[in-house]
Amino acid sequence: MRTAVYPGSFDPITLGHVDVLRRAAGVFDRVVVAVLVNPRKAPGGEAEGRASAIREAIAETLPDVAGRVEVTVFDGLTVDACRAAGAHHIVRGLRAVSDFEAELQMAHMNHRLAPEIDTVFFMTALEYGYLSSSLVKEIARFGGDVSAMVPPSVGARLRASGRGDPRL
Ligand code: PNS
Repeated sequence: MRTAVYPGSFDPITLGHVDVLRRAAGVFDRVVVAVLVNPRKAPGGEAEGRASAIREAIAETLPDVAGRVEVTVFDGLTVDACRAAGAHHIVRGLRAVSDFEAELQMAHMNHRLAPEIDTVFFMTALEYGYLSSSLVKEIARFGGDVSAMVPPSVGARLRASGRGDPRL
C-alpha cells in the first residue's frame, strides 16, 4: 500500500487543495491529510476544527476517494508525521513559479531529515492557480463571495460566522 502525507495549514481548505488531493488519490492508495497546529493560536481544538472542516469537505467533494483519505492533526515535523503514518511520500501543490522556491527548499530539507521520504508535486488546476487560504479568509471577512473558491460546507462555515469562522 502506497501512502502519502499531504501536510498543510488548510486554513481553510480551498478547492485548490481539494484538486491536489484528488490528484494525489489517483496515484497513492492512501492519503493522510496532516493539519499543522498553528503555534500562534490558542492550543487545543483549533486544528481539530480545521480537520473536521476538511473531513466534511472531502465527503462532499471527493466521495469516491473519501474512504482512502484520512485527516490527522500534527504539531511537529512533517517527516515525523510521515513516519507515524507509514508514508514515504509528501504531497504538495504548486500553483505558480512563485511557490517553487520555498517548496524546493522544504523538499530538500525534508529529504535531508528523512532520506527515505520524497516530495511529490502536483500542479494545481489552472482555475485555482490564483487561490490562497489567506485571501479567501480576507474576502469572506469583508462579506465577499467565496463560493467558487471553497467546498460548499467551508463556504457555509465562513458565511455563518460573518467575519470568518474561528474554527476554520
Ligand atoms: O499550507 P502551508 O502553510 O503552506 O504548509 C506548510 C507546512 C505545514 C507544509 C510546513 O510549514 C511544515 O512542514 N511544517 C511542519 C514543521 C516542519 O516539518 N518544518 C520543516 C519543513 S522543511
